[in-house]
Amino acid sequence: MSAARTFELQSASGVRVGLVELGASISRVQAPDREGALADVVLGFADVEGYATNPFYLGCVVGRVANRIAGASFELDGMSYRLAANNGPNHLHGGPGGFGSRRWRGEPASSADGRAVRFRYTSVDGEEGYPGTLEAAVTYTLSDEGALRIDYRATTDAPTLVNLTNHSYFNLAGAGSGTILEHELELRASRYTAADAALIPTGEIAPVAGTPLDFTRPTAIGARIGELAGEVGPGGYDHNFVLDSGGGELALAARVRDPGSGRALEVLTTEPGVQLYSSNFLDGSISGRGGAFRKHGALCLETQHFPDSVHQPGFPPVVLRPGETFRSSTVYHFTTG
Ligand code: GLA
Repeated sequence: MSAARTFELQSASGVRVGLVELGASISRVQAPDREGALADVVLGFADVEGYATNPFYLGCVVGRVANRIAGASFELDGMSYRLAANNGPNHLHGGPGGFGSRRWRGEPASSADGRAVRFRYTSVDGEEGYPGTLEAAVTYTLSDEGALRIDYRATTDAPTLVNLTNHSYFNLAGAGSGTILEHELELRASRYTAADAALIPTGEIAPVAGTPLDFTRPTAIGARIGELAGEVGPGGYDHNFVLDSGGGELALAARVRDPGSGRALEVLTTEPGVQLYSSNFLDGSISGRGGAFRKHGALCLETQHFPDSVHQPGFPPVVLRPGETFRSSTVYHFTTG
């Protein structure tokens, strides 16, 4: 197979985005601070080959179903399906051969909104245990203002499940410069999906008020992170928030700001949920640009349908049927403020 292709998009505002066919990944984002100085604001590998084995999902597209499916199995239209269990007894991020580990086909695309690159991938019937051949496309468009828009599309020839996201790890002070504990975060979410110790939702949608999950006003990520110790894995945020927008229309979901550099990130999405993940499992064992990837060295804002939706009748559904088109959009707007 030929070497994986890479692409670069550049905005008039000075933002530069690197993309690679492996996992249809965002491999690099350079963004200016309030003085115009560029820094690399996502974790990434030094070489393209790093994306071939990417155990922490750096910058990649996650699918066929992002997040967890309890018991690595589900029923659809009376048929039972078994998936790979790659997170204890549960299925995580589409399985070991999920979309983030696949070679997509990329090509430059034109768009009225800016320069774009479109990636396509055909996921065959039975891949990772999922039914139906899924034709997936992901288009990255960078506007002159530095807004990176991600448009996901998919169709299927048999009923299946789809929930796609991007797993970029952001550090607005610069990858490798320290932790994100001083970044200020605002989430347009007054509720979250309560989960058990394995991060499987119980079905309860609980208010964030009075908990360390209340980011309805800008708050430093480190301000209350200690209160979560022991609650989730090695400690930190790894929670799905229920966006007040309800999903459907593109709406502001999150704002992050690094007070030191003045770099800011706005996240807009059509999805009903977002997983806030504070890199709890990064343990220094893997390195890339900016050195070893460390715990709390970055944060992810994974826009998505809720975890384990297939087992939760109260959650928005993730079923895609022949004749329907899956559509989802998320914008990561790199700015200063
Ligand atoms: C998501 C999950 C985390 C972890 C990371 C990848 O954010 O919720 O628990 O699996 O992906 O390491």
